[in-house]
Amino acid sequence: MTGSAKKLLVKTWGCQMNVYDSARMREALAPLGYGPATAPEDADMVILNTCHIREKASEKLFSELGRLRLVKQARTAEGREFLIAVAGCVAQAEGEAILARAPYVDLVTGPQSFQRLPEMVARVARSGGVALETDFAVAEKFDALPEARAPQGVSAFLTVQEGCDKFCSFCVVPYTRGAEMSRPPEAVLAEARALVAAGAREITLLGQNVNAYHGQAADGAVWSLARLIAAVAEVPGVLRIRYTTSHPNDMADDLIAAHGKMPALMPYLHLPVQSGSDRVLAAMNRKHKVSDFLRIVDRLREARADIALSSDFIVGHPGETDADFQATMALVARVAFAGAFSFMYSPRPGTPAATAPNQVPEDVKAQRLQELQALLAHQARAFNAATVGRVVPVLLAASGRHAGQVMGRSPWLQPVHVTAPATLIGTEILLRITHAHPNSLAGEMLPNQAPDQAMAA
Ligand code: SAH
Ligand code: SF4
Ligand code: F3S
Repeated sequence: MTGSAKKLLVKTWGCQMNVYDSARMREALAPLGYGPATAPEDADMVILNTCHIREKASEKLFSELGRLRLVKQARTAEGREFLIAVAGCVAQAEGEAILARAPYVDLVTGPQSFQRLPEMVARVARSGGVALETDFAVAEKFDALPEARAPQGVSAFLTVQEGCDKFCSFCVVPYTRGAEMSRPPEAVLAEARALVAAGAREITLLGQNVNAYHGQAADGAVWSLARLIAAVAEVPGVLRIRYTTSHPNDMADDLIAAHGKMPALMPYLHLPVQSGSDRVLAAMNRKHKVSDFLRIVDRLREARADIALSSDFIVGHPGETDADFQATMALVARVAFAGAFSFMYSPRPGTPAATAPNQVPEDVKAQRLQELQALLAHQARAFNAATVGRVVPVLLAASGRHAGQVMGRSPWLQPVHVTAPATLIGTEILLRITHAHPNSLAGEMLPNQAPDQAMAA
């Protein structure tokens, strides 16, 4: 790192792709002398990396900006600099409106243009005023970002695909992230090696529709996600691979088969279905039926019997009746999910569903959400309880909250706590699961399991 010791705070909302982008923003600004800050009061620049997916997510930006305004006033009174930047999907959708409503914001950058942050910061510092960049410059973005990766911990995210062409009735993502685009496989593999060099042992390949990945290699060949996963598995030091988020329509045969063939590919899949009613799925423009989803689930379980599934659900999409909702409950009962995210439908500006005439009343949405979440929570508890007594491989990732405790993940993404030496962090070891808590497991090392018996990276 060069230059004066300035400090940067990046606050992140939304999906894993925003988590990845935030890490890349920190890396892009490090050459300007920005090191990490722990709070706004301690920072010279704050970036709010925002999410537009639901109304509540978007609202958080303005309450946070109100707080930062006070910090900036105090700082300006001392004659010191304090830059406020808004990034992410709200910035993309409402850049101009943000500057109008919060004129103390210095920089606004969309998710496909933040590689220009160093230049934007320099421009604002040089001539004052504001900088706004919301181009969809996704190819440039990855080329312009630094090649080396800062340490991301044992488990790291790697964006391989961006954007979405599917235009589900309710969703802002195609508007905020732009059209589907896949990174070349060589670039992905180089980044996987950089992440391993920085300490990663598990890599989660990311994309808004990650299984629609179709990256073109230098020789012209177009790689599927399954082919990419196989190549990442060959990178020395990679112990585990995951990918998210997938769309049922892109669940290709070779990807399903990969779950049965590749030990490094973890037996856990997040596959959003949104609804268990064909009527609602059609209204949502999902282009798959309930039967398509169930067939995929069956084929995945044939390929890998212990695969755990999670999903996303929306209740109260315009036109959803009680019978439609009960069909969702029936789908959940049939599949038995290890975990899931569920949301009340939130009308988003510019999306077709927002102006549909048959909106569902808020109290009905709330009632349905409660019923669905009770069933999903019951299934998640049952899934965790079923691991008690079993011996499972756990990738140890970090120190736990209590002294002597280490935290890791099971193959099924469950957090596992164990009393173990911190020197084992970054290795995968076999643990006997002793307790299941609502959101995590407790494990113990096997008798006579000396540290050198761990499966080191
Ligand atoms: N690309 C993924 C998910 C993207 S957004 C997919 O296609 O499934 C993550 C989740 O947020 C979605 O799966 C959906 O369940 C939820 N979501 C998106 N828009 C929403 C809205 N307007 N209201 C409520 N939930 C929404
Ligand atoms: Fe949104 Fe649908 Fe695209 Fe997923 S597939 S990002 S829900 S439009
Ligand atoms: Fe949110 Fe944008 Fe991700 S809207 S969910 S941060 S793609």
